[in-house]
Amino acid sequence: MTVHTNAFSEAVLSPRDGSPAYMTGFENSFATEAVAGALPVMRNSPQKAPLGLYAEQLSGTAFTAPRHSNKRTWFYRVRPSVLHGRGFREVHAGLIRTAPCRDESRLPIAQLRWPPIVIPDEPCDFLSGLRTIATGGDAHLQLGMAAHVYVANRSMADRYFYNVDGELLLVPQHNLIRVFTECGVIDAGPGEIVIIPKGMKFKVDLPNGPARGYVCENYGSYLTLPERGPIGANCLANPRDFLAPVAGYEDKETPCELYVKSLGRLYVTDLPQSPLDVVAWHGNFAPVKYDLRRFSPVGSVLFDHPDPSIYTVLTSASDMAGTANVDFVIFPERWVVMESSFRPPWYHMNVMSEFMGLIYGVYDAKPGGFVPGGMSLHNALIAHGPDAEVFEKASRKDLVPERLSGTMAFMFETRYPLSATAYASQLELLDGAYPDCWDGLARKFDRS
Ligand SMILES: [Fe+2]
Repeated sequence: MTVHTNAFSEAVLSPRDGSPAYMTGFENSFATEAVAGALPVMRNSPQKAPLGLYAEQLSGTAFTAPRHSNKRTWFYRVRPSVLHGRGFREVHAGLIRTAPCRDESRLPIAQLRWPPIVIPDEPCDFLSGLRTIATGGDAHLQLGMAAHVYVANRSMADRYFYNVDGELLLVPQHNLIRVFTECGVIDAGPGEIVIIPKGMKFKVDLPNGPARGYVCENYGSYLTLPERGPIGANCLANPRDFLAPVAGYEDKETPCELYVKSLGRLYVTDLPQSPLDVVAWHGNFAPVKYDLRRFSPVGSVLFDHPDPSIYTVLTSASDMAGTANVDFVIFPERWVVMESSFRPPWYHMNVMSEFMGLIYGVYDAKPGGFVPGGMSLHNALIAHGPDAEVFEKASRKDLVPERLSGTMAFMFETRYPLSATAYASQLELLDGAYPDCWDGLARKFDRS
């Protein structure tokens, strides 16, 4: 039965607490229907799909991709997407940028840090409030990534979006977002992440008011779970903790807009009805959410500070072995117990580029200046490390077991050097005093 309502079908939201319902597993093949009988049995493309629906395949990989990496989903929808894919006109992309975008900023190379982007007073939703901080690689070649921030004070309501240039990893930092997708509804708050596949239409609503967060737009191979190597079959991010939405649809026959970003350009078309009209679907190309607090960290239990790659939640491989197109790494709550060791991160120069953000709490290498909602960029081979005060304290402290509590920082780490956008290079936006944090690192060498 089709319920003509402006809300998503009642099957999606729990009547108990209004929260969405999910299916568990990462890269599973799911089958779900919002209306009984909407999902065809056995056939993908029956002569007549059930309930007068149209069958449509969304391919996430080439038809002939190897089975272990092949991604596609079959939709059974009120109208096929061809009715949502005509009459596009280009509009200004606002503050969204797409690689290659190397020449917007003439900032000299440096350690860069930004305080939180303030949520503006003027109306903005997830799409109009999306602003790019840095880009690397080349979306045309399906290499690299962009780091964005979203600031929003209103729901998208009748505006929908899909991205051709890459999948989107949303990292809410302030307040809950409700993501309505073709596959169903996902709620995510600070400490959770959402992956929205390429080509998946969606909109973002704000159930609890203004929201802010980070976005990694991944132009390269899809994010997947990293190999565990000697760690074995368990720990880090476990597949069963990823959640995909059950089918839900919006049966809404009122005018709306569909935006598409393709090769860095933003287009819009007017639609007479919602494009989120998928009543049933099956497949393995679907949005998922994950609670970062379910990550099971594995660390050093005797001496030395391991490389941060031990905290990789998701990785997008490149064609160079062990060298990620982008890794999504977190620094979660954990015990630090190493003996006779400098416990914070060491000073380093990394050939990979590191974009960091802080979701909540305090990051142990930067207790001052790096605040929740803020971000930093340590580009390829730019030296960085703990500030002077942290170095002094960590060099002298009594090394008892210590719990780092109430903290969640993250890093987008990529093999491609990142170029700050003109927007992010505005001096009034940058923390110009950031490099001063190393001023107190005095000469200590004494050969006597
Ligand atoms: Fe680093």
